[in-house]
Amino acid sequence: MNIHWDSKTYTDHFSFVAQYGSGVLDLLDLPEGSRVLDLGCGNGALTRELAKRGYAARGMDASAEMLEIARRDAPEIPFDQGDATAFALPEPVDGVFSNAVFHWIDAVRQPEMLACVHGALRSGGQFVFEMGGSGNNTLIHAALAEVFAKRGLTYRMPFYFPSIGEYATLLEKAGFRVEYAILFDRMTPLEGENGLADWMKMFLGVPFAGLEEETGEELRREAAELLRDDLCRDGRWYADYVRLRMKAVRL
Ligand code: BEZ
Repeated sequence: MNIHWDSKTYTDHFSFVAQYGSGVLDLLDLPEGSRVLDLGCGNGALTRELAKRGYAARGMDASAEMLEIARRDAPEIPFDQGDATAFALPEPVDGVFSNAVFHWIDAVRQPEMLACVHGALRSGGQFVFEMGGSGNNTLIHAALAEVFAKRGLTYRMPFYFPSIGEYATLLEKAGFRVEYAILFDRMTPLEGENGLADWMKMFLGVPFAGLEEETGEELRREAAELLRDDLCRDGRWYADYVRLRMKAVRL
């Protein structure tokens, strides 16, 4: 994972991430009581939603800080610390759900992650997820590349945003049958008058590693200014999200 989470700021100001995940939950078509793993559950907001829908939900995340919040808010749900690319469950589950997680995992590690999901599911089990897809945040990353370049710096985009074709191929190779796939734009409103710069600060740690805090602030401000015409409307900032949403069945 290419991030260390500030779990409090994330929970207080970026809760839209979970709000959008409920449409992905609708793809699960399992009877009440089915065992469902929320992979990369973060603060557990959507694990609680799975439980509300009648599933025997459990969550897994790499971040101890996020899990602390998840356990505090739902002590009755089991939450385990684990790496999405190297985990095994004691018992197979009927469904695996994941929202806004897989783009944090480098492309070369995706097959390992899919092998773990395959191993965690019973035969016929359902795998539903949403992640950043091909073209996600193109405007934001292009603006950052431009302001980095002006200072002679190289901007490294730290995410994996696949197309439908690319990810369907990985799923098929990993032993899944793809049942549903959609790639769609979601212009996403952000909070606050510095919404876009704050979003960059929250989610884009890796490209700024090693830079002075003040340099980072300037770069984020300059990039946001370049994007004002495209991503700020009536004083409200937006992020140019593109989502890849899929459902696959374990063969
Ligand atoms: C996303 O959910 O697509 C995303 C969030 C933060 C950084 C990059 C992508």
